[in-house]
Order: sequence, then structure tokens, then C-alpha cells
Amino acid sequence: MDKLWAGRFAKELDSRANDFNSSIRVDSRMVRQDIKGSIAHATMLGATGILPQAEVDMIVEGLQGILADIDNGSLPIDMTAEDVHMFVENELTRRLGDTGKRLHTARSRNDQVAVDVRLYLRDEADEIKELLKNLILVLADLADENKTVIAPGYTHLQRAQPIAFGHHLAAYAMMFVRDYERVVDAVRRMNVSPLGSCALAGTGYPTDRRMEAALLGFDGITLNSMDGVSDRDFCVELANACALIMTHLSRFSEEVILWASWEFKFIELDDAFSTGSSIMPQKKNPDIAELVRGKSGRVYGNLMALLTMLKGLPLAYNKDMQEDKELIFDSIDTVKDCLAVFAPMLATMRVLPDNMRKAAANGFINATECADYLTRKGLPFRTAYKITGQIVAYCIANAKTLETLSMPEYKEFCDQFEDDIYASVDMQHCIDIRVSEGCAGTSSVEQQVAFLKDYFAE
Ligand code: ARG
Repeated sequence: MDKLWAGRFAKELDSRANDFNSSIRVDSRMVRQDIKGSIAHATMLGATGILPQAEVDMIVEGLQGILADIDNGSLPIDMTAEDVHMFVENELTRRLGDTGKRLHTARSRNDQVAVDVRLYLRDEADEIKELLKNLILVLADLADENKTVIAPGYTHLQRAQPIAFGHHLAAYAMMFVRDYERVVDAVRRMNVSPLGSCALAGTGYPTDRRMEAALLGFDGITLNSMDGVSDRDFCVELANACALIMTHLSRFSEEVILWASWEFKFIELDDAFSTGSSIMPQKKNPDIAELVRGKSGRVYGNLMALLTMLKGLPLAYNKDMQEDKELIFDSIDTVKDCLAVFAPMLATMRVLPDNMRKAAANGFINATECADYLTRKGLPFRTAYKITGQIVAYCIANAKTLETLSMPEYKEFCDQFEDDIYASVDMQHCIDIRVSEGCAGTSSVEQQVAFLKDYFAE
């Protein structure tokens, strides 16, 4: 294909340089956004009298025809084109002749690509939001179903205190709510139009940038033409939101993998979301969760690569910036894939409350309640803490638990112990007694579920 910039050159581009330079393989997915941006640009050129309306009408119709032909499959993307912008413009000129060549008046590929990427990421962000919302609502339902299931809560992966299992699930839902807000926030800054910045310095044509912005659904325009074509901070911000989504998915995956192991057996993943081994007939592997955990690496890598790509660039446009798309596209593709499979994996897993309860019964996770019991009887907390520690050591040495220790044994350690200690260290009681807002008890989980459901109810 002839280069649109061929005028100044005496030679054709070397085929190796051409392949290396081309971005069509990556940016062809923005073809709809490119055409949409061009239609807005042409419309503005007509409205301002920069181009005659009759020619603008031909251009707009031509662009709509290209879009229709792409959508109905009759126009394949020319993979030898330099990039998606060249492809669309070449095709328009092939169809309209000289009129097609007028579209690029008062425009550059530099502002064009900055617009296309924003339009594309804006739509993708909506999809990520939808997937996050779905995951959060799945978690809200699961938290509700498991609000009375007693599980051990951990610190340092050591059994720590009893919690309602629904509370553990709701914790992740809260993280995904913040992820949702980060995506909303990234789009808020992304959604301004750089169109009309042209190559770097704007133009002498009396363009109407705000009209173009309004036609494309932007909230405003960039106020500095060099900034408009030079920064990709909006890619970094979305890549960062993606990286944090992966952090949360990856931690959750790690727990799903642990919970599904024979050592824990707190959950059983559905057969439809597990895989087998080619040699060990008994195996049922949590591959989905492992892959999600594994894919977090590339999403972090994309964020780092974007930052590094930008950090040394002088203003304004540099070809380095063509790298932005491969990176941010990989992040959004990966996050979308992960969210899409993670939600149904959770929704179909079987929770095994008896095993959680059994795990909760071992490990003295009610010891804090024992110390609180003595504190309520008037002992300073530190003293109560020490006595309880001695009791736990005694129990371990004598294969007893706080529930099975006899009253005379309790009295050996402190004469303040009465029969009501047994009610205090009862696992159910340990959860029911929690009252602080946001705590691990059942009524707190109910409040959290209400918050999560309200969040998306308009
Ligand atoms: N394919 C280019 C990119 O993605 C489009 C902008 C090219 N501009 C230029 N002056 N070479 O960055």
C-alpha cells in the first residue's frame, strides 16, 4: 500500500523496517473508534465551513459505508497498512478519490490516535465495570448465604479468631468495590478530547474542538495541544486499576487454592471449573484460580512497561508511544478474561461448613474471648492475656480444649472462673458477641451485604 506520507521520500521503506514500524496488528481493533472520530472531525469541518458541506456529506457517507462493510465482513482489514488510521483513510480515498484526501485537513495521526485510544478504553472500562459489578453481586449473595457459617479467621496463616465465613467473602467484595471506583475515576480524567491538537501545535483553521468533543461524548477538551498528544497517563491509570484488580483476584485465588486442598477442604470447586491430571486419576485441580494468580504478573508488567516507556520521552509525540496499545490492551483483555471466569467459579463452588467448623474448633481461636471474659470480671487485660496463655499451654500439653477443660482446672489458673466461661468460649458465642461496626459477626455481614446491594441499586 502507498504510504500517505510518501511525498518526501525517494525510496520505498525497507520491508523489515515496514513490518517493524507497523502497528495495524495491534491497533486494528480500534477501527470503529477511528471511524467514529473521523466522522466527528468531518462533521466539524463542514459546520465550520472549513470544507464544503457537499464533500463532508460524501466523506461521512463513505466512512459509514466502510464501517458497515467491516461489520458485515465484506471489508477485511488490510494487514499491510501501517496503522488503523492509514487503513481507514486509504480505503476512504480508494472509494471517494480526492474528496477522501480532504478528511485529514486540520488533523494529525497524533491527535487521532490519542482520541481513538480514549474512545476505545472508555468502552472497555464499561465492560470491566460490568464484570466487577457481577462479581461483587455474586460475592454479596455468597456472603449472605454464609453469614452464619463459622470459620477460622487467620493471621500469619495461623488460626486466629472465629469469623463468619461470609465476612471473609465480603472482605473481597469491598476490595472490588474500590477497584470499581478506580475504574470510574480513571475514565473521568480520560474522557476529554485531544482532537484538534493536531500534530502538536493546533492549527490555523478555525476548528471547533468543543463541537467534536460533544459529538464524541467527551466531557470536555484538553487545554494544551502538546499535553493532548503527548501524555498517556490515562493508559497508566487504567493499567494501575487493572493491576490492583489482579492483586485482589490473585490473593483470592490463593485462598481458593488453599481452601480446595485436602489440608483445608473448606470448599469443593465445581467439576465444571476444575481440571484433572493426565497421570494421577484422583486429582482435581484448581487450574482456573492458579491461572488467574499467574496472570497477575503480566498485568503488573504492562503497568511497569507503560511507565518506563513514557519516562524519558521529550514532548511531544514520539513513536515509542505506539507501544502503549499492546500493553494496555493486554491488561484489559487479561482482567476481563479473569473476571469473567472467576465469578462463575465462585458461584458454583460448594462451601463445606462442617470442615470449617472443625478447623475453628482446633487451634484455640476462642482464646481471646477467654481473656476478655477475665477482663470483664475485673482483671487488667494484660493479666487476663497471660493467664489465658498459660491455660492454652496446659491444654496443649494435656490434649484438652477451652471447651473441655474442667472447672477445677480452670480455677487452678484463676479463681474468677465460673460456669459461664463455657458459654463465653463457645464458638457461636464468639461470633455473636461481636458488635463493633464492620466486625466478623452475622449481623455485620448482613449490613455489608445490604451496602453491596445498595451500591448498584439506582
Ligand atoms: N500508529 C501510531 C501510534 O500508535 C499512530 C500515530 C503516528 N504518528 C506519527 N507521527 N507517526 O502511535
